[in-house]
Amino acid sequence: MTKKLKLAALVVASACATGAAVSQAASVDAGKTAFASNCASCHSPSERRAWSNTSSAIRKNTGGMGYLSYLSATEVLDITTYLANPTTTDADRLFNWAEANYPSLLAPRATSQSLAGYLVRYYSQTNTYVGTANGQLYFFDANHPAAGIVPLGSVSSWLNTAGL
Ligand code: HEC
Repeated sequence: MTKKLKLAALVVASACATGAAVSQAASVDAGKTAFASNCASCHSPSERRAWSNTSSAIRKNTGGMGYLSYLSATEVLDITTYLANPTTTDADRLFNWAEANYPSLLAPRATSQSLAGYLVRYYSQTNTYVGTANGQLYFFDANHPAAGIVPLGSVSSWLNTAGL
């Protein structure tokens, strides 16, 4: 089985395992945007705070925050996930997870770079690439270039699969 096929099989297996999962993985990227529009007028992400108290602060109207009760539980989770990882992106969290879980496909650990519209990591030992563009995850195996760039589904579904 080629490396590409192994990863494709993994995708199908993961999709079946998650099935009609209702829970939505938290998104650092969405949280960054939501923080900017809902919190940044009063807080800075660099404040040392127990951000996990956000829901209770809204419920108890701490500091007049009660009006933020329009935020959904998912939005609050996105915001607190962002605050815990203010310098990471969803793509980087996913790449880090993939490297840790599939070292035989993606080695050694790499850093992200922009390449032809993709955010990409190149793995010199396995001679493979992972990348994201427009919220989609892609894989390229330079050992089998004829297979082309393989789409693996959305970043958000992968974040769910990874439990990130
Ligand atoms: C209108 C201003 C305002 C906005 C907007 C606001 N806060 Fe606050 N927040 C406060 C004030 C004032 C306090 C209480 C005083 C303090 O601790 O500095 C506070 C306290 C907190 C606390 C500490 C609660 C505790 O019990 O320890 C957290 C966590 C927090 N805010 C998170 C957020 C998040 C996340 C957002 C955006 C969803 C947000 N706040 C939006 C003004 C605001």
